[in-house]
Amino acid sequence: MTSKKNASLIQKYNIPGPRYTSYPTVPFWDQEGIRLYDWTQSVKRAFSESNKEEGISLYIHMPYCESLCTFCACHKHITKQHSVEDAYIDTVLKEWKLYVDVLEEKPSIREIHLGGGTPTFFSSTNLKRMIDGIFEHAVHHDVYDFSFEAHPNDTTQKQLQTLFDLGFTRTSFGIQDYDPVVQLAINRIQKFETVERIHTLAKKIGYESISHDIIFGLPHQTKENIMQTIANTVKLRPDRIAYYSYAHVPWIKGVGQRGFDENDLPKDSHKRELYELGKQLFFEAGYEEIGMDHFALPTDKMHKAMLEKRLHRNFMGYTAGKTKLMIGLGMSSISDSWYAFAQNEKRVEDYIDRVNEGKLPLFRGHLLSDEDLVVRQHILNLMCNLETSWKDEHLKLNNIDEILTRLNEMNSDNLIEIYEDRLVVKDSARMFVRNVCMAFDLRLADAKPEGRIFSMTI
Ligand SMILES: C[S@@+](CC[C@H](N)C(=O)[O-])C[C@H]1O[C@@H](n2cnc3c(N)ncnc32)[C@H](O)[C@@H]1O
Ligand code: SF4
Repeated sequence: MTSKKNASLIQKYNIPGPRYTSYPTVPFWDQEGIRLYDWTQSVKRAFSESNKEEGISLYIHMPYCESLCTFCACHKHITKQHSVEDAYIDTVLKEWKLYVDVLEEKPSIREIHLGGGTPTFFSSTNLKRMIDGIFEHAVHHDVYDFSFEAHPNDTTQKQLQTLFDLGFTRTSFGIQDYDPVVQLAINRIQKFETVERIHTLAKKIGYESISHDIIFGLPHQTKENIMQTIANTVKLRPDRIAYYSYAHVPWIKGVGQRGFDENDLPKDSHKRELYELGKQLFFEAGYEEIGMDHFALPTDKMHKAMLEKRLHRNFMGYTAGKTKLMIGLGMSSISDSWYAFAQNEKRVEDYIDRVNEGKLPLFRGHLLSDEDLVVRQHILNLMCNLETSWKDEHLKLNNIDEILTRLNEMNSDNLIEIYEDRLVVKDSARMFVRNVCMAFDLRLADAKPEGRIFSMTI
């Protein structure tokens, strides 16, 4: 594609749209929510269908951060008071026990991911207490994969060693950008030397896979500083790189996303150039593109998963494995039983209160219809493999003609290939995959959303 043609396509297709970390996407979950009974039944069903063979996953949300990064769209709670740790861990363990009481045999845990906020806000003693507490009621699956998100500014050798000794072999460091002007605007001063020290320590301890998060589209970002950020990054050779498009969602995150002005943000075509430049530099450094916004070295598990078409996508983004049941613990966590989703209370105080009343702290949820389940599979196929097929009986959709009509224009723009019972997104059109998914999104088609609820697709 010529860059002129590319720019006009970006202008045409850069519209507000979901990131498809779930289907249905959260704004289209049933307004009435989900009954507690339906949720626990769906958990029991997924558990009985999967615990013995594939095992289950746990996502634990650890919301605290010591200071606010002004770009951040995560569910976090800012405090410097580490006295909050104890009560939070107690609550997570109580919530886990509420789930264990629902399950009929010992859970076999295949995956644990600690996300945030900042898991490394917590002391190594508390991190160990939490993981030991989880395994009082569970066993390790034969193959397991435990990971956590770490802030380079506050991660210690002791935390890295403790988590490694508990079985964690993957970690991701939040980098974002190394440029001092960008760092000032996003209120996140973080030196390369700090990252280098902690990255090297993690490698020395034995972590198998280290990932770095970088964001393009941040305020004041230029081609020159993205080149410098990427040069620093590839010097350390992380196994994976998440190259996220900055999601500017001040209507959701309120005053958090301030400290810079809309005028300080790169314009659409410039933002895309930053992406293309990053992609080129990652390729030159030997990385391969995974799905929509990830890169990995060919030696990393995620790359192998992509080649074997085993990539999965959930609320944490792309993962190399899939379990039918993912239980989310902690404030704002989303659980996924394949047949249903449920999200916990989004304020830490409400979360703690509800669990202390002895209740699962659900705030909203959605029971998937038969049609949702089929669309969910197509969207996963597209996001992970850039193709989908409706040949098999269980993937047939009544509305396929309507969906293909919505894709006519993308077809004429040469972004996709449509066959009798299959659709392929061209590799050169990877950046438009969210737009292709939107054509399959029957809930979006039925209820045109009012106001801004999604970030831009490109
Ligand atoms: C929970 S943080 C990572 C751990 C730790 N809190 C830190 O900041 O280092 C998860 C990641 O989400 C990404 N992120 C947060 N807000 C974002 C936004 N508005 N747009 C794109 N990516 C975002 C950042 O790359 C960040 O590293
Ligand atoms: S980017 Fe990380 S450290 Fe910064 S506010 Fe968000 S979760 Fe906290």
